[in-house]
Amino acid sequence: MSTMIKSENVKEQYSDDGNLSARISLHAKHSTNKQGLVPWLFEQYYFSQDIRILELGCGNADQWEGRVESLPKGVELILSDFSEGMVDIVSGKYVKETKVSCQRIDIQNIPFEDEAFDIVIANFMLYHVPDIDKALMEVKRVIKENGKFYAATNGNGELRSFVHKAIKKFKPDTQAFAHGFSFNLQNGQGILSKYFSNVERVDFEDSLAITNTEDLIDWIKSSVSIEECDVDFDELYDYFEDIRARDGVISIPKECGLFISKK
Ligand SMILES: C[S@@+](CC[C@H](N)C(=O)[O-])C[C@H]1O[C@@H](n2cnc3c(N)ncnc32)[C@H](O)[C@@H]1O
Repeated sequence: MSTMIKSENVKEQYSDDGNLSARISLHAKHSTNKQGLVPWLFEQYYFSQDIRILELGCGNADQWEGRVESLPKGVELILSDFSEGMVDIVSGKYVKETKVSCQRIDIQNIPFEDEAFDIVIANFMLYHVPDIDKALMEVKRVIKENGKFYAATNGNGELRSFVHKAIKKFKPDTQAFAHGFSFNLQNGQGILSKYFSNVERVDFEDSLAITNTEDLIDWIKSSVSIEECDVDFDELYDYFEDIRARDGVISIPKECGLFISKK
């Protein structure tokens, strides 16, 4: 079953980058793949000179930190998100970068002419979009002939299902973290193929080995606004801490990858 999308909850979750940063932090501290997701993503992207790049749902634009300077000559980068709070944060970060501009955009209604971009990026956000067909039609419309669409996403057999099973031990009827992502590694190729001629999936091999239980609890707390998760966090902490004390780490599988689509 896929995530029920409540636009108001998604807006509240991303009104600023507090929740997103807590979530990124768990992965940054406890991932077993030491290359890191962002350096790996930049190995997959191909940017040539004089192109226009649009990122949709960029969040706090963490992936661009320290990388804007090394973009090829003549590149124009537009960072966008539908959250005003995120756009304010990103505008502040890149105010001095002449190659970068920031604006508020809903992926379902992109305010640019047809074929305006060589590259469009939408990472870890398509599963939040109420009308994904409208969103993908818009992305296709604004990409040039031979342009590329990059969309990173998660799979369903990972952190969320691990946390759901743990909560179920205390609340057998809980729906918290019960639903998978509506756009995920497993179904992404099928969904994208309706709009793009050539869709390739590349996986990032990784897992979590969590040595600090509090970091896992912070990750769960950062999701409360979209999960309606009515749990006793002390009880849950003790449960995970027993595992950590017994095994030395809390081991959780990860499924993450990137779809590279051509128009
Ligand atoms: C999980 S965050 C991912 C942020 C960033 N892409 C990353 O990989 O770290 C999802 C982002 O998508 C944004 N978002 C959700 N729905 C959107 C929509 N319809 N149009 C544009 N952005 C949206 C949220 O505000 C949030 O910043």
